[in-house]
Amino acid sequence: MKLSMVADHAKWPRENDIIFNLSERAQKASEEVGKENVINATIGALIDDDGNLITIKNVYDQFKSLPNREIAAYASIAGQDDYKEAVKKICFAGNDPKGNIRVVASPGGSGAIKLAMWNYTNEGDAILTSDWYWSPYGIIGEEAGRKVANFKLFNDKGEFNIESFKEKFKEIIYKQGNIFIIINSPGHNPTGYSVSDKEWDQILDFSKKIAKDKSKKIVLFIDVAYIDYVKDDVASRKFFKKFGNLPENILTIVAFSMSKGFTAYGMRMGAAIGISSNEDIAEEFYFSLMHSCRANWSNCNRAAMSTLTHIVDDSKKLKSYKEEKNKYKDMLVRRAESFVQGAKEVELEILPYRDGFFISIPCDNPKEVCEKLTEKNLYLVPLKMGLRFAVCAVSEEKCKKAPKIIKDVLEENKSLSMNLA
Ligand SMILES: Cc1ncc(COP(=O)(O)O)c(C=O)c1O
Repeated sequence: MKLSMVADHAKWPRENDIIFNLSERAQKASEEVGKENVINATIGALIDDDGNLITIKNVYDQFKSLPNREIAAYASIAGQDDYKEAVKKICFAGNDPKGNIRVVASPGGSGAIKLAMWNYTNEGDAILTSDWYWSPYGIIGEEAGRKVANFKLFNDKGEFNIESFKEKFKEIIYKQGNIFIIINSPGHNPTGYSVSDKEWDQILDFSKKIAKDKSKKIVLFIDVAYIDYVKDDVASRKFFKKFGNLPENILTIVAFSMSKGFTAYGMRMGAAIGISSNEDIAEEFYFSLMHSCRANWSNCNRAAMSTLTHIVDDSKKLKSYKEEKNKYKDMLVRRAESFVQGAKEVELEILPYRDGFFISIPCDNPKEVCEKLTEKNLYLVPLKMGLRFAVCAVSEEKCKKAPKIIKDVLEENKSLSMNLA
């Protein structure tokens, strides 16, 4: 038998990240055939029409103006106090839910996911999320011995499938006594779906019904990584108010991230925001998560925290940051509209897109289709149930063209499998 040195729990398949691999192939193809002939829709970051990473100037001007000491110093374990306040301000934008709110700094939204999952689930627990989901939820859970269970995200009308949600919710809560639910909205990765206010009411009404049994513990984990790229910035935040005054056995945790909204992907800064009607539960949240910070990464990126704080606390800086960010949001909206329109014209089936960086195309054999598309110099990401196209990374013009290329390959694939059958 081959020698292995890692502990039993650390044996994982030796796989490179499929997204980074495909992106490298796309870059190589650009060098060979010219970038105007390649569509690289693999990257989950805002990329300009020339293929360069977009960086919000206001953010980096602020970052570079920080004195060395503000960059070099250790930060508080749970984050600087002014950062914690700034997170609430920028995230809720006046829609603070009523109740007890605590903030714990984390390395990106990923850190918030890790903190929350670890502290609010037991080993062997199933975590509930939709069938279309961001795969790191599974990876973070799996590393700690948790599993992922899925409800169907869409019903036949292309709306949030509340019936499937209820069914899975009941199945898990009656088995475990507790449940940890992840909902990534608005601008869900990978589909671009946003849960509507009416659908949030349905989710919360059902949760409250279950919570009447005081022995049940419900954690709603809301991943808002893409909230800054919703068409209407004001309307998109109103739903936060709904998490106020919930029964004390429902805890809401919002995962805040600077990665997308501040184009600060590599700076690794975010936060977990706990909301509870019971002050002791909020305090417990704060101290449990802070313990995990100490146990995992000690403290977070002080310069990134300061950057956010300086921008949020200065109304002039905040205004110009928002103007600049919204320029990129408008660009994203135009790209997504082009793709959706292009898909309509060639009758390419896509999942209901509302906001955010990605659009998904359901299909069989996603890996094969993805390979076939690379032959046409179109690179995107294969998922379990379809393909993910990153509108955030592709020019409007190419977003318009891509649906036809995808449709043609899907048709070829369909006739191939019909001939083989
Ligand atoms: C759905 C979702 N949640 C959270 C994140 C968090 O990213 P980060 O850890 O960079 O903040 C991402 C980033 O791709 C994401 O797509």
